[in-house]
Amino acid sequence: MTDTKDLVEADRRHFWHPFTQMSTWIEDEEVVVIESGRGCWLVDTEGRRYLDGVSSLWCNLHGHRVEAIDDAVRAQLDRIAHSTTLGLTNVPAARLAGRLAQIAPPGLTRVFFSDSGATAVEAALKLAFQYHVQTGMRSRTRFAALGSAYHGDTVGSVSIGGIEAMHGMFAPLRFDVVRVPTPDCLRCPRGLDRASCRLECADEAVQILERHARSLAGLVVEPLVQGAAGMIVQPEGYLSRLAGACGRLGILLIADEVATGFGRTGTLFACTQEDVRPDILCLAKGLTGGYLPLAATLATEEIFSAFLGTPASGRAFLHGHTYTGNPLGCAAALASLDLLEPMLETLPARAERFGELLEPLADLDHVAEIRRRGFMVGIEVMQDPGSRTAYPADLRTGHRIINEARSRGVIIRPLGDVAVLNPPLSISDEEMELLVRVTGESIAAVTEA
Ligand SMILES: Cc1ncc(COP(=O)(O)O)c(C=O)c1O
Repeated sequence: MTDTKDLVEADRRHFWHPFTQMSTWIEDEEVVVIESGRGCWLVDTEGRRYLDGVSSLWCNLHGHRVEAIDDAVRAQLDRIAHSTTLGLTNVPAARLAGRLAQIAPPGLTRVFFSDSGATAVEAALKLAFQYHVQTGMRSRTRFAALGSAYHGDTVGSVSIGGIEAMHGMFAPLRFDVVRVPTPDCLRCPRGLDRASCRLECADEAVQILERHARSLAGLVVEPLVQGAAGMIVQPEGYLSRLAGACGRLGILLIADEVATGFGRTGTLFACTQEDVRPDILCLAKGLTGGYLPLAATLATEEIFSAFLGTPASGRAFLHGHTYTGNPLGCAAALASLDLLEPMLETLPARAERFGELLEPLADLDHVAEIRRRGFMVGIEVMQDPGSRTAYPADLRTGHRIINEARSRGVIIRPLGDVAVLNPPLSISDEEMELLVRVTGESIAAVTEA
């Protein structure tokens, strides 16, 4: 039997957790130690089971301990766990590059591997910058990004990030960014209604891009849903309007599909829902089905060709990581894609079912908005939704809601006072019902107390 007490002690003494106020963690939190999992369920060292309602941070697609992925990783382990891709290639990485080029939105033929969402974005920024230098457009050195954007935690990704609570601390380290307002319909600054507005927010965004076009290397955007901002769902047509402007103005469109990729929004990639073809595409999270850290930055042939020349030309992309193209991760990704592709047809209907189940939660007194695109859901609670009055931050309402859910055997996560649900795509109807029921009960328990 695993000794939970020893593990918790070791954790509290030595493990510095991400995005965590460690004094609260050490002094107040009940530490749950996950030991195993199967399907959509996690099991802790005390044998308690929890429904993984956020796919282990939005990355797990098919559940835990999926035989086909386990077998693929084991088979790769029996061959080799890692070899460098500097000066060599390896079997699964070469295969995966070809596979991604096949399934990506048209035109994205070149695949640069890295390890996480942040590094996929970091590579995208440097690629876009160097592309412009090497095509004679040296004035294009800046990036545009959305308000409340989240693209990861490396310094480049933080620079384009727009969430003050996370990124404000690092202001002196961040490079200057052209900021486009968040298309957040709940807080529409014009007081417009999504059903009848004419995408005035997109008009404003385009005007900003036009104003700065000559200095812009790229626009970085989370297509359709700004996840970490609290699952802000963009109004329909917004993305394609921005994409059109980028094409017209010579600004590279960098689609960060780290969160939205691999079926999360109901289609393989979110961009295709608005027929958008990005110049650069960033992928991570679901790439390996949630098994191993692997990321990819895809680029067009046109961008790739700007990096070609003799070794002495200085045009190569001098960027990479020790584990770039790691064979275990690539083997997991290939097996995950084998499972995902046949699921795509039924995905929109299953996501709709999720939406139907969520609908009654809108009647809870303190639910201000339920935002959903595919399987990505944010339920925002407020003290008074009518007057848009938020709860005082020190009440930690979102945090208390997820603790209630956890005590009922369901893991969800807060983003401020937004309860985030984003389950594995393989979730069954019964599990979906449980996830929604417990979320509703937990919101009611905290907000109606
Ligand atoms: C849109 C987006 N980009 C990038 C990242 C960063 O990914 P990672 O945590 O793997 O670095 C995230 C993580 O949530 C994300 O949602």
